[in-house]
Amino acid sequence: MKVDQKIQDLIRDRNTQVPTLPVIVEKILSMAQEENTSAKILAELISKDPAIANKILRLSNSAYYGMMKEIDSIPRAITIIGFNEVVSLTIGMSVVSAFSRKDAGKNFNMKGLWIHSLGCAFASRNIAKKLGILQSEQIFISGLLHDMGKIIFAIYFTDEYAAVLSHAKENETELYRAERLILGINHATLTGMLMEQWNFPEMIHVPARDHHSVEDSPSRYQKLALIVAFSDYLSQKAEFGDSWTIKVPVITRIREELGISRDEADEMVERLKEQKDEIEAFFEVMK
Ligand SMILES: [Fe+2]
Ligand SMILES: [Fe+2]
Repeated sequence: MKVDQKIQDLIRDRNTQVPTLPVIVEKILSMAQEENTSAKILAELISKDPAIANKILRLSNSAYYGMMKEIDSIPRAITIIGFNEVVSLTIGMSVVSAFSRKDAGKNFNMKGLWIHSLGCAFASRNIAKKLGILQSEQIFISGLLHDMGKIIFAIYFTDEYAAVLSHAKENETELYRAERLILGINHATLTGMLMEQWNFPEMIHVPARDHHSVEDSPSRYQKLALIVAFSDYLSQKAEFGDSWTIKVPVITRIREELGISRDEADEMVERLKEQKDEIEAFFEVMK
């Protein structure tokens, strides 16, 4: 059986070890799509899960937000940090911690990949805000989870994936091309499949799925896919964590399509570098 068929089976089979989405995320995803969701309902939902509530409070008080006063309750976190931010933190954190308990073997720097992904998430949010795009929190999640397929490969197809990495290294080729060649499917497609299986809204899963194929992305999500692709690049340029990639894709066209100048891109890299310690600390709480 070809690996891509096995992968599809792995994702679609409820009895396998692929992490199922934590219940709280399912609830938050469906709640976030309703119109009249109140901060009170969100706070109640989060407070029912003490481990998650505790992490949200620690993240709210982390250096990244630089609050003067301690945020000591979930309703306060929602008021001060924001409703949508708390939603995306809860979703992101639940997925990150669902995977961080799994073992991918010593070849794969899992922490490095998540820090790369956090860099992409924060950059995506910054760009969306700069471009006046309303879905800055949805894109934070797309950015955070964009390379989740690599983690699936590393955990469930450890040996095959080690071969993909060496192929990419020897041939100095982009990782997603080596994956496609050897496994028949690339990590971005796999990320999209898993997010779809988990019922993430299209607006979140399509930009993640298309981060290596922006030109094929449906027009209504193309801009979001461009942002994730560009932020992926920025995170690598700022040397955030480890994306397991040998060759960083050329992004000139992507940058131009977003209307970002070369100088602005350099500034974005510098800004990310300044946030490095704070974002690394973020991961320590999230995992
Ligand atoms: Fe990628
Ligand atoms: Fe990436």
